[in-house]
Amino acid sequence: MNAGDSEIVVSIMQQEGYRYTERIEEADIILINTCSIRDNAEQRIWGRLSEMRRLKKQKPGLIVGVIGCMAERLKEQLIEGNTGVDIVAGPDSYRTLPQLVQSVEEGGKGINVELSKEETYAEIAPVRLDKNGVSAFIAIMRGCNNYCAYCVVPYTRGIERSRDPQTIIDEAKTLFENGYREVTLLGQNVNSYSFGDFGFPELLAAVAEISPLLRVRFATSHPKDISDQLLKTMAQYDNICKSIHLPAQSGSNDMLKKMNRKYTREWYLERVAAIKHFLPDCTITTDLISGFCGETLEDHSQTISLMQEVGYASAFMFKYSERPGTFSARHFADDIDEVEKTRRLNEVIALQNKLSIVSNQAEVGKIREVLVEGTSKRSEEQLCGRTSQNKMVVFDKKDYKAGDYVMVKITGCSSATLFGEATE
Ligand code: 5AD
Ligand code: SF4
Repeated sequence: MNAGDSEIVVSIMQQEGYRYTERIEEADIILINTCSIRDNAEQRIWGRLSEMRRLKKQKPGLIVGVIGCMAERLKEQLIEGNTGVDIVAGPDSYRTLPQLVQSVEEGGKGINVELSKEETYAEIAPVRLDKNGVSAFIAIMRGCNNYCAYCVVPYTRGIERSRDPQTIIDEAKTLFENGYREVTLLGQNVNSYSFGDFGFPELLAAVAEISPLLRVRFATSHPKDISDQLLKTMAQYDNICKSIHLPAQSGSNDMLKKMNRKYTREWYLERVAAIKHFLPDCTITTDLISGFCGETLEDHSQTISLMQEVGYASAFMFKYSERPGTFSARHFADDIDEVEKTRRLNEVIALQNKLSIVSNQAEVGKIREVLVEGTSKRSEEQLCGRTSQNKMVVFDKKDYKAGDYVMVKITGCSSATLFGEATE
């Protein structure tokens, strides 16, 4: 979500005549896009801000802004005292950034943290900063209405709203015409996308129709509303990638209830069975939280057994981090101590490493279509790209280049990468 927001901000600033630079020493304005989802994300930003204060001493007149979720959450704290911050702009106020810069140039501060019920930046064409030129993200909605007990997103990014489908389809078409071969449709809960006659399956199909050469991915699916209709749509189109990110958070019904996830372990497993039924070749990935309020060893072992039952291809795994203002911060004690949280998380990570290897080993011997993203990090002589199942494959370059589809025979793997050989 955040990378996409930065691209919107660059687009807005460019329209006003500003120029983007990657070289920090060249910049006259530095805007730091922030995330509040876990405390360590915010701590890193406080670190960056002390760096900014040093830069400001070397370059008087340098303007520093904090934008995004942390701006929304910590408004006053960021602007008061000796933080060196001139601009604070929440996720719905990027259009006003040029005015905010102006008020700083006139000697004041620039603050706008108003949340909106409508803003989707629908017609703003993001300036692509992810330079591989092959895959791009498209934000299809903003905000979230789910209020999971631990989560700060509904407070920092506001209520859920869907973007006009025509602007999404046009953006995807333009990307395709400019050589892009993969788009990922992004929202906190894409399954609740709704705009006029368009639900998410209709939107997904419309984007897939642009060209069979354009791959379509999406994230994130909330397990409570991933529908059979969506799975059937995925099955209908070869270019809709066969990989679903389905955050479970926990395998324990007590925890799921307390987290306000609105589904049970049984419901989740039934949805996994539906995925396997409609899309036998689809990988499933997830997010998991260790050490949520009151999590017992039995709850933790339920998460372990859920992981084994589903056999995730990969997972993002976190320790619970209490976020001020959320339901769980207000009502439950953050009572699993740090050492125990770490121990449980490490157990989850160790198991996932094993599951990732199992999932990757099952690919060895198969021939997969790989969309080349670029040169491999390890060697100039090798390329990397992904399979439809979202697995990274590294193979010898030959005459292939970024944006090509290559049939690759998988010959080996690590827990994170597949290795193969082009078959043509
Ligand atoms: N603590 C730990 N992890 C969290 N996430 C969201 N809020 C928290 C929190 N307070 C995780 C969830 C979510 C992912 C994006 O971040 O797993 O799916
Ligand atoms: Fe947060 Fe839950 Fe919304 Fe995801 S669905 S952004 S975890 S509140």
